[in-house]
Amino acid sequence: MKNLHSKTFATRAVHAGERLPQGDFTPVATPIHPSVGFTYDSMDDLDAIFGTTREGYVYPRYGSPTVTAFEIAIAELENGQAAHAYSTGMAAIHAALIAAGARAGAHVIIALDVYGATFTLVKKLLNELGVTAHLIDATDLATVEATLAQTHPAALLAETISNPLLKVADVATLAEIAHRHGAQLLIDNTFASPYLCNPQTLGADYTIHSATKYIGGHGDVMAGVIVTSTENRKKLYELNKLVGGTLGPFEAWLALRGVKTLPLRMRQQCANALRVAEWLSAHPRIARVNYPGLKNNPQHDLARRLFNAKGFGGVLSFEIANADRAQTFRFMEALELCQAATTLGDIYSLVLHPATSSHRGLTAEERARIGIGEGLVRLSVGIEDAQDIIADLEKALT
Ligand SMILES: Cc1ncc(COP(=O)(O)O)c(C=O)c1O
Repeated sequence: MKNLHSKTFATRAVHAGERLPQGDFTPVATPIHPSVGFTYDSMDDLDAIFGTTREGYVYPRYGSPTVTAFEIAIAELENGQAAHAYSTGMAAIHAALIAAGARAGAHVIIALDVYGATFTLVKKLLNELGVTAHLIDATDLATVEATLAQTHPAALLAETISNPLLKVADVATLAEIAHRHGAQLLIDNTFASPYLCNPQTLGADYTIHSATKYIGGHGDVMAGVIVTSTENRKKLYELNKLVGGTLGPFEAWLALRGVKTLPLRMRQQCANALRVAEWLSAHPRIARVNYPGLKNNPQHDLARRLFNAKGFGGVLSFEIANADRAQTFRFMEALELCQAATTLGDIYSLVLHPATSSHRGLTAEERARIGIGEGLVRLSVGIEDAQDIIADLEKALT
């Protein structure tokens, strides 16, 4: 504003220091842009941006600069055309399903053992809105083919590595089957992260992340993101203008900072998880270990190919032999280094009891059908020294 000096103290307090001309420098690290408004030299510019014929920002529910930086980074790492960020992973999953055509009268197929809230979103909420949900074992390709042929769904949704049983999706084959039957393939790539797998390059239509997990990586930010085609992103953009599951600039900044160390963390977490899984497999108190990195895991070769031999992820789950809920709880309480917390993908090692947390919304029968028992523990291995994680598990098992 010109001639600010001639204005009253109240007016100067509001406007002093604001809207300074941009200097001829470029900050090395992305700044946080919390502004809720953006001004332009002419109203024609604003009109063009509203009309999407010119790039720019009008209102942060539609998009804002720090969020764009995060979206560009994730699209780049996923080798995808474009990305749209969300306030949480669940907001992203919901948006991808709607954009893919989940409407009254449509069918949606999801892998049986997806994250509990995804399961409930499709099985309960979308079902109540008129979408018919089908739950299948996504590793059984004959069943996938038959169910698609029978139902002609709008979308097929699976996780690259499933939560909490660590089943691996054959993404390229699922994409081929889905497209042959006119369905869109949605892949939740949260557990693999863009470091291990890029579903867009294997034919997925929507790659989804809870960026709260490996992408953020430090247990201090909630975020979600979808990578998709430029065309599909336009749909997501229009949808989000109405429903507003928008990522905030502070969160976008934290998530973008997390991205920088994703490869370093994932390398360490994959190496640690493999060591811990091998150790647990040999322990007499452990009945079963779910981890695709184990050579005797039926999906070991598929996982090696899918993840380009870079690792097998940082999460594993295991069953304590003959343990009921109370005994499993005592084991988890006895851990000191591994924190019993409802998240994963952090630098910290974290344990969770799926039956009473991530999959609590399911009935006992649904959990039994999937294979989630009372003795199942999920372990998200952190970046600590594997030796210390193993010592903690050993002590608690004893
Ligand atoms: C595989 C997977 N997808 C999606 C989500 C949902 O993400 P958010 O908690 O960020 O909404 C989770 C949360 O645990 C998850 O494990």
